[in-house]
Amino acid sequence: MQFFLDSAITSEIEYALDTFNIDGITTNPRHVQVSGKPFLSVIREIARLVEGTEKTVSVEVNPHFMTYAEMLPEAEKLAAISPNFVIKLQCVEPAFKVIEALAKKDIRTNCTLIFSPMQALQAMRSGAYFISPFIGWKEANGEDVQNFIDDIVTIRDNYDFDSEIIVAAVRNARQIVDMAVLGADIVTAGLSVYQEGVQHPYTVDGIQRFTKFWDQTPYDEA
Ligand code: E4P
Repeated sequence: MQFFLDSAITSEIEYALDTFNIDGITTNPRHVQVSGKPFLSVIREIARLVEGTEKTVSVEVNPHFMTYAEMLPEAEKLAAISPNFVIKLQCVEPAFKVIEALAKKDIRTNCTLIFSPMQALQAMRSGAYFISPFIGWKEANGEDVQNFIDDIVTIRDNYDFDSEIIVAAVRNARQIVDMAVLGADIVTAGLSVYQEGVQHPYTVDGIQRFTKFWDQTPYDEA
């Protein structure tokens, strides 16, 4: 399973690349706003961090754009900035034709804000490179997310669609493991989710115990 970082904060991205060797980055308008930098500046900075690698950076088209005529040129403009960019388009009717048109030009897309298997199916039929079903928002609303993702994985495999499934809005390690069991390709989460996920109180306890024994034992030279 690939781990993506969901962030537009360059220091976090650098840390996650270095420490977790994250496989890609996803941004959205909230992350860009939180970065405190203008949109184009920050996505260019992020592009530089992954330059020369295969790691993707998902960048989102202006969410006001709701027509083919608005979305397509903006998507092409963003794609021209970096070969690492995958263009994020909201899952709305006009986006499907944009996704198809971009696929024909070898521009990769990430169909985002997916909350039902039907939306996922249509995005995959259109040729989305990534699809992003959000689980955190659904789970916070008491909705089942296991069947949601299981259905999407089954549909993708039944029809051999090329789209990769990025499970998004992931909030904790339990969700990551659940999604790995279901066979989702990728998860995207904030840095703290990965940091908390690799911690365990028994590990901390074990380090304390072993340190005590270590300190009672001579090291010696061969
Ligand atoms: C995915 O690509 C989105 O950026 C992300 O997971 C959205 O979730 P959040 O803003 O609720 O964390």
